[in-house]
Amino acid sequence: MSIHIGAREGEIAEAIIISGDPLRIKHMASILLEDAVCVNEVRGMLGYTGWYQGQRISMMGTGMGMPSTAIYLHELAQSYHVKTVIRAGTMGAMNAALDLGDVFLAISASTDSAMNKLTFNDGDFAPTASFELLEGAASICKSKQIPFKVGQVLSTDVFYSEDEHRLQPWMRHGVLGIEMETAAIYTMAARFGMKALSVLSVSDNVITGASASSESREKQYRQMFEIALEVLKVA
Ligand code: HPA
Repeated sequence: MSIHIGAREGEIAEAIIISGDPLRIKHMASILLEDAVCVNEVRGMLGYTGWYQGQRISMMGTGMGMPSTAIYLHELAQSYHVKTVIRAGTMGAMNAALDLGDVFLAISASTDSAMNKLTFNDGDFAPTASFELLEGAASICKSKQIPFKVGQVLSTDVFYSEDEHRLQPWMRHGVLGIEMETAAIYTMAARFGMKALSVLSVSDNVITGASASSESREKQYRQMFEIALEVLKVA
């Protein structure tokens, strides 16, 4: 047990798929894992461990945003010895060329959060994906003929902003997506020697205002979890 996770030692696999919504995790574990067992219910942040094609895999919710996600990753690394983390989540596109539903592999994550400023004495750390996982995900997408893009995301602390210009400098510098977790995940992975990757799908476009229907989000999630599971098989 750790402060925020009730699983006993050994109940969480070395490879884990995380996502913000714990009920999404429950659903994905029930349809994609064999013999899935619930290993965490603390704060309703459901976690499951089961099997995918002979490999032991866990899935767990993290809640939204970097502070919540970083707490879970710290405990997963330190108390449960997790080695590989794939986030399956959504992002807003900051480029008109990205379509709703596109699969996006986040190679790096800039952030407007103060979390890393606090950690690095006001310096800037460059949170970066595991090359091995990124390469694995790219080759799985290619072999399954799933169109995908690789690029940078902005992990923001602000979902509802009143400043309509705040994304301009990020877009000017080629950042293609906005979400709220990846910079913390890649930073915690660096700290604890884990491999990490965010596999995202475009749920909305912050320029055009387009937004995916809940049906298509459901399909996107399933596809992302399937990509993540396949990557974990070869990682
Ligand atoms: N902003 C922040 N996080 C997000 C968004 C967004 O537009 N879409 C999906 N996650």
